[in-house]
Amino acid sequence: MTPTSWTRRHVLSLADFTLAELDTVMQTANRFQSVLQRRTKKVPTLQARLVSNLFFEPSTRTRNSFELAAKRLSADVLNFAPATSALSKGETILDTAKTFLAMGADLMVIRHQQSGVPQRIAAEMDRLGGQVGILNAGDGCHEHPSQALLDLFTLCNVLDSEAPTPTLLTGKKVAIVGDILHSRVVRSNLYSLGVSGAVVHLAAPPTLLPREFEAYGATVHWALQPALQEADFVMTLRLQKERMSQHLIPSLREYFQQFGITRDRLQVCQPHVKVLHPGPVNRGVEISSDLMDDPDLSLITDQVTSGVAVRMALLYLMGSGGNLAGLPVG
Ligand code: CP
Repeated sequence: MTPTSWTRRHVLSLADFTLAELDTVMQTANRFQSVLQRRTKKVPTLQARLVSNLFFEPSTRTRNSFELAAKRLSADVLNFAPATSALSKGETILDTAKTFLAMGADLMVIRHQQSGVPQRIAAEMDRLGGQVGILNAGDGCHEHPSQALLDLFTLCNVLDSEAPTPTLLTGKKVAIVGDILHSRVVRSNLYSLGVSGAVVHLAAPPTLLPREFEAYGATVHWALQPALQEADFVMTLRLQKERMSQHLIPSLREYFQQFGITRDRLQVCQPHVKVLHPGPVNRGVEISSDLMDDPDLSLITDQVTSGVAVRMALLYLMGSGGNLAGLPVG
């Protein structure tokens, strides 16, 4: 099947992504997944294009997989590190972005600890009349679109690795457990899982899960077991200690006792249940160490692997301006 739907210059949020767009990303990622399994894992599709990775906040998975994705597409890559940049001399974020624009950036991948920074840069780039595409690689507690798309791809691949399409999730129960309040990953996932037809249940202590999350169409639980009951997939989230301005849980030990995911607790799920975590993981807090390392139950490594194909798909779709004719044959 040929992907058909793409008109976006920027990917800042999944809030308005349609099912057709999600499907286009999944199908395109599937093609690149095949490329990544070949002996020569590189295609010339973004040759002479410039991808700038502007990460104002630390990252291991996202920054490196965007860099690898761009290189696999034969793009030139510039990486920006705040500590060794002119930002430390007082240059503004917008002037930093304009500097990369002046060097000819076609795509900018932006992570920032404050919500809204990628959106602000995109607005400024549009105002300047350029064609540069901005990709939100995680902004504050707002969104992390590429993470949710790689999560979706990982889930769809479990259900059908030949044809991973979002509607495979229709009616599947996905339990999301952890620091919902501070999670940009969950907000993007709520959009993509919702459009795909998944039945989403959230679980966390009330201090980390306001009832307002029901507005996303999810069921809210302040206890773990009802969320896990009959779940097809369990997505755990990191306790974001750096974002907690006050003591929202009594202790990490008590959190693990009440909400930590262990083999025993998965007994109430479907027999085929799989566990995900976007990383980085606090072992023994969100998930037991043995479960995290169990290849029969944990999809955490698959998520990282899927991330490269999904980010290749996003860079390709944004960099090709919607011209899907140049996609490698699957
Ligand atoms: N999942 C995620 O965003 O990880 P990094 O912070 O390592 O990029």
